[in-house]
Amino acid sequence: MGSSVKLNNGQKMPLLGLGCWQAPGDEVAAAVEAALLAGYRHIDTAYNYLNEDGVGRGIKAALASGKVKRSDIFVVTKLPMIGMQAGKVEKYLKKSIKALGLDYIDLYLVHAPLGFAERSETDPSSVTVYFQQLKMREVCKKHNIAITAYAPLASPGRKVLYEKRGVKIELPDLLNNPVVRLVAEKHNRTAAQVLLRFLVQQDIIVIPKSTNAGRIKQNGDIFNLQAGRAGHGSPAFPEPGRGWQKLHHARIPWR
Ligand code: A2P
Repeated sequence: MGSSVKLNNGQKMPLLGLGCWQAPGDEVAAAVEAALLAGYRHIDTAYNYLNEDGVGRGIKAALASGKVKRSDIFVVTKLPMIGMQAGKVEKYLKKSIKALGLDYIDLYLVHAPLGFAERSETDPSSVTVYFQQLKMREVCKKHNIAITAYAPLASPGRKVLYEKRGVKIELPDLLNNPVVRLVAEKHNRTAAQVLLRFLVQQDIIVIPKSTNAGRIKQNGDIFNLQAGRAGHGSPAFPEPGRGWQKLHHARIPWR
């Protein structure tokens, strides 16, 4: 399994990225630096996250260590809804580049677009073991569009945020799903690693957010696993589809 996917414009996009939603300034700076030093090569932020300056500081610190080069890093940010007019795109793009303290970004996404563009390089979608989006993935494959699974852990952070605002939402607790936990125990891994590995081994890009150094490291340690079958040499993660059929593919009620 490779550690990146080739986009339809020829660029390579790393399968593992650090999500930065709900990570404020100084916290995100430390998280981005830790992630880059732990081997992440993709950072996902947005104008709307109000933390591009912190993300930029983290990137700068990692570059200053001499262990990472700018050309090795894939930085994604997003056009805010207030910039969704042809005449405003350049202005917002420049604002983001400046806040990040970079000369360029690698991918500029439209935040929360309506509809589906055949010529997109990547489609940010909610894909988890619970909500595998097989039909949408078929369409993307046909058009050579890579998929980024945001909230690949089913967004425990969203639940906390909504509850703080007095809104109760039902989200599947994938980190405590009995099947996921069983697979994790069997392979001596955490539930989060199982959820992430399940996606990357199908060439789905994942961007788990964490500002906790231990969890950042843990979420990045998903490539040195052998996908295979029990009893055939390497201990093993199930191949896509195998061992996962019993999971209930419920629709997550936030889209
Ligand atoms: P933390 O930053 O404290 O690690 P989102 O909800 O936006 O998808 O973000 C992921 C959420 O899951 C965050 O709240 C993050 O909290 C938490 N998280 C990230 N990695 C792990 C992990 N390995 N185990 C448990 N929780 C995690």
